[in-house]
Amino acid sequence: MSLSEGRSQQLYREAKSIIPGGTQLLSKRPEMFAPDQWPAYFQRAAGCEVTDLDGREYLDFTHNGVGSCLLGYAHPQVVNAVVNRVQNGSMSSLNSPEEVWLSRELIALHPWADQVRLGRCGGEAMAIAARIARASTGRDVIAFCGYHGWSDWYLAANLNTDKALDGHLLPGLSPSGIPRGLQGTALPFVYNSTEELRAIVEQHGKNLAAVIMEPTRNMQPKPGFLESVRELSDSCGACLVFDEVTTGFRFRPGGIHPEYGVEPDIAVFAKALGNGHPIAAVIGKARIMEAAQRSFISSTYWTEGVGPAAALATIEVCRTQDVAGHVRRIGEQFQAMWRQLAVEFEVPVQVGGYPALTTISFQHPQSAALLTLLTVRMLAHGILAGGGFYPTFAHQSEHIARYRSAAEAILPEIGAAIQMNNIESLIGGPVRHTGFARLT
Ligand SMILES: Cc1ncc(COP(=O)(O)O)c(C=O)c1O
Repeated sequence: MSLSEGRSQQLYREAKSIIPGGTQLLSKRPEMFAPDQWPAYFQRAAGCEVTDLDGREYLDFTHNGVGSCLLGYAHPQVVNAVVNRVQNGSMSSLNSPEEVWLSRELIALHPWADQVRLGRCGGEAMAIAARIARASTGRDVIAFCGYHGWSDWYLAANLNTDKALDGHLLPGLSPSGIPRGLQGTALPFVYNSTEELRAIVEQHGKNLAAVIMEPTRNMQPKPGFLESVRELSDSCGACLVFDEVTTGFRFRPGGIHPEYGVEPDIAVFAKALGNGHPIAAVIGKARIMEAAQRSFISSTYWTEGVGPAAALATIEVCRTQDVAGHVRRIGEQFQAMWRQLAVEFEVPVQVGGYPALTTISFQHPQSAALLTLLTVRMLAHGILAGGGFYPTFAHQSEHIARYRSAAEAILPEIGAAIQMNNIESLIGGPVRHTGFARLT
């Protein structure tokens, strides 16, 4: 059976007609990897192995649940905690005690924080954080850099111009459906540019509710940058919010920000916090978090027990085992491997990002086609591969070795395709999409 046949492809064709966009998350659209060939659905996932609907098995060398499954899929300790909660009922008319235990744990990991609110998803938790910051300051405007999810407060940045989010991880996001009245309420600045933030503060400081950013994502902060962000926020009374939705627990237990010695007013966690189970947390200083009581921030499923139970088990594993160190080492091995392969096979592959959040790209005019070809050929070797690898605690050196031998088998063809300029004809389907614009 070819990659373009089988139950996964059939189901995805149906999905596109009954689910707008085909999936619930842009980054999980098969078109983002290899249209018509990427195995859209899984029936089983354990460790770093995934089985698709047709029973084909793959090693996952992509983002492993979009960064959520830091410990690997179905980690036994997390599964036990979840199954235990489910068997005892995960929802009732009373509250789950795990939400208090989890809040306690998060505060213990971040002693600057006094209070916690829980949600279930990253974008949702960022919306909660934005609401709390606005409620606490009584102001409207938010300065931000980076990507923070699907909600109105953030996409409002693109109401003025479709270029505002360029350079912010997912450029070109459409503000369709966002009230025009929000124009001017979300102002982007470039990471590491104190000058751009200063200009926003000078012009809008009196109405600035928050500065929202990831403390780091794919580059180190310049010396003094985070400190100036803190100072500029303080100078106008804006809340400083660190979005640790993706960075949280990946570099150390809890957020990465303590490593930089700059305390925010609010920090937000999701993704790896539940190792694949929905849970998100907004932690913050009491004087700011208290504003959550004046606003209305409330939802039925924020009270269920599975998410917090999964988070407690995940935190326990991260605290007692060197998860972050392991993930860094695996990422380093992967990056070193690609640097060697690029030289050995004379292919223009460039490695980027931190080892724990690695990206690879082809420095070539047909980079998307080359990446698609790589993906398609790796699938034939039983490997899910694309432009990013977020390692997990389940990945071992032997998995890197399997990736390497598959890459060694296919790189001569890719090198020749570059020489012959016939890349697209070898893919066996369309080229992957590269961003939001192409999919709408
Ligand atoms: C930094 C950051 N914030 C927010 C989000 C949104 O999280 P979610 O997809 O869980 O809504 C993401 C997701 O990629 C993210 O990387």
